[in-house]
Parts: sequence; C-alpha cells; structure tokens
Amino acid sequence: MRAIVVSEPGGPEVLSWSEVPDPQPGPGEVLVDVRATAVNRADLLQRQGHYPPPPGASEYLGLECSGVISALGAGVDGWAVGQQVCALLAGGGYAERVAVPVGQLLPVPDGVDLVDAAALPEVASTVWSNVVQVARLAAGETLLVHGGGSGIGTFAIQLGAALGATVVATARAAKHDRLRALGAAHLIDYREQDFVEEVRRVTSDAGADVILDIMGASYLGRNVAALAYDGRLVTIGMQGGRKGELDLGALLAKRGTVAATALRSRPLEQKSAIVRGVREQVWPLVEACRIRPVIDRRMPISEAADAHRLVESSDHVGKVLLTVD
Ligand SMILES: NC(=O)c1ccc[n+]([C@@H]2O[C@H](COP(=O)([O-])OP(=O)(O)OC[C@H]3O[C@@H](n4cnc5c(N)ncnc54)[C@H](OP(=O)(O)O)[C@@H]3O)[C@@H](O)[C@H]2O)c1
Repeated sequence: MRAIVVSEPGGPEVLSWSEVPDPQPGPGEVLVDVRATAVNRADLLQRQGHYPPPPGASEYLGLECSGVISALGAGVDGWAVGQQVCALLAGGGYAERVAVPVGQLLPVPDGVDLVDAAALPEVASTVWSNVVQVARLAAGETLLVHGGGSGIGTFAIQLGAALGATVVATARAAKHDRLRALGAAHLIDYREQDFVEEVRRVTSDAGADVILDIMGASYLGRNVAALAYDGRLVTIGMQGGRKGELDLGALLAKRGTVAATALRSRPLEQKSAIVRGVREQVWPLVEACRIRPVIDRRMPISEAADAHRLVESSDHVGKVLLTVD
C-alpha cells in the first residue's frame, strides 16, 4: 500500500506518499481501506519528531479515518467486510489501509457522507471525554472554549450548545461569524480582548463553569481567574507551554478543579469506553443534525504537505480532510 512517510523530523516537505508494507489485522482488529483521514495538530508535532506514537501503534501519521472494512482479524464479531466505518486511531490513518481495534470503530452516522465522517472520531472522542466525562458540563452552565475555530473548538461549541450550555469561545475575529452560526453565544477576539474580563462581562461576573483549554501554561492563571465557583478547567493542549504557575489560593477560593488528559496514550479499554459513549450520546446528536462535521476543505492525501502548511497557518476553520482514492 501507500502511506505518507516522514523521511526525517522536519517541516512539511519531509512528507512523501510512498510504497510501504501492508498492515495485517491482529486478533480483535479489522482492516479498513481508508477513504479519508484528517489533519490534527498532533500530526504536525509528530512530523517534527516531538510526539512519537505510543508503543504498539502504527509509525505513520493519522489519528482518525473513514473507510470500508476489507478484512476481519481473529475473534471479531459484529462487524462485516464491506461495512462503512470511521475510527479513532493511535496512528496509521495517512495510508491506504489501517488495522483498527474493534473498540475504536464507529458506524458512519446516518446523514453523514463517508469522506466527511473522517472529521468526527478524534474531536468527538476528545471533546466528549473531557467536557462530559471529566468536567460534567450540565445544561444551563457556561462553557468557555479556547480556540473555537479549531477542529476541537468547532465540535466543542456544537456539543456544548446541544447540551444546553451557553458557549463562549475565543478565536481570531475573522472566524467569529462561522462560530456564531455553530452555536457560540459570545465570541472573544483573544488577540485584542482580555478573555477574563469578557467572560466576567457576559456572565454577569459569575465566570465559566467549564473551560476547555488548549493553551496550557500561558493561560493557566487567567483560566483560573475566569472560572466560576465550583468551576472545572480541563487542559488538553499545551500550545502556550507546559510549565505554568498555579495559584492554589485562587483555585481553592473558587472550589475549582484543574484536570488534564491525553486521548492517544490511553489504554485500549478506556478508548473503547469513550468510543462507546460517543456512539451512545454523541452520534444521535449528529444524526439529528444538532452537530455537523465542520470541514474547511478536502485535499488529496498526496498533498499532505500543503495541508500541514494550512493547519500550521491556522487559516482553516474546523477540519482539513485528506482523501484517498
Ligand atoms: N489532549 C488530547 O487528547 C487532545 C486531542 C486532540 C487535540 N488536542 C489539542 O487540541 C488543540 C486543538 O487541536 P486541533 O487539531 O483541533 O487544532 P487546530 O485546528 O490546528 O487549531 C489550533 C487552534 O489554536 C488556536 N489558538 C492559537 N493561539 C491561541 C490563543 N492564544 N488563544 C486561543 N486560541 C488560540 C487557533 O485559533 P485562531 O485560528 O483563532 O488563531 C486555532 O484555532 C491542540 O492544542 C491539540 O494538541 C488534544
């Protein structure tokens, strides 16, 4: 088969669409002929040599895909050759074929095109596991989503709104109209405005009950300042650095919680439980059109280097898909 190969750690130019050995489905896995995959920010880090795949995962890039099952490994029940699926992956999506543990497979939701379905597994699993499982967002609460225009952010805005929360999001101004249309009630241009002041203003000083953070260190103090009493801050990205100073006095005065999670390195059982939760709780919202895949554009996978340049520039809104013919 062909896969995107990283010749050496570096810029987008190190990516090439090359012949590699086919993967074989092990026990409890299926082989998927990939129709599309999506670019995630983590792929840029892996390409640069900063985010190696967890032990046992494919060496190729790609944390999600959609496609058609072409073979079943030993002991697989409930899935059939020819079935259209999408999948959460620990790696290997940037390829013509990938072996997937059945616990990470999802049916393509009704009403979603097979290619577009590649935009869903990673963001749905990440956002649902953090906003619902970890932070227990409830109807009537305020959710602050940092990076509202990202793949993660566009999904989090829609899920928060569908769950009955008031969603506030940070993003550069050019993206605000798109994010309002997805359900964000208030938008903050983080380049021009102080998000703590804005959150206080739009919540009548109450603050945000839940914050989904992708910045890490650079936002830690301000995120705690923006939390409501009993608020929950969940950090899933460290674009602003990994080591910050936490004022425990400020946190305990708020009775706040700070949590952080990474999806890719979770054990198979945890990923399977998350994927089950997504299927039970999120897929019905997708099928009812309360949540849609937000796709900036589709590009042929042979143009993966250009897709990485686009995501690096942050000029996209939502997901950039790579299609495989
Ligand atoms: N822990 C996990 O399991 C997990 C899983 C998936 C993703 N993630 C993380 O989630 C984040 C989003 O991933 P993605 O693939 O969806 O990324 P993406 O589409 O590449 O988006 C990155 C976003 O960062 C935003 N941003 C940059 N500086 C910002 C700032 N100072 N304040 C607010 N937003 C800022 C950009 O907003 P503008 O374009 O508006 O400037 C852009 O929308 C990444 O950090 C990624 O590593 C974590």
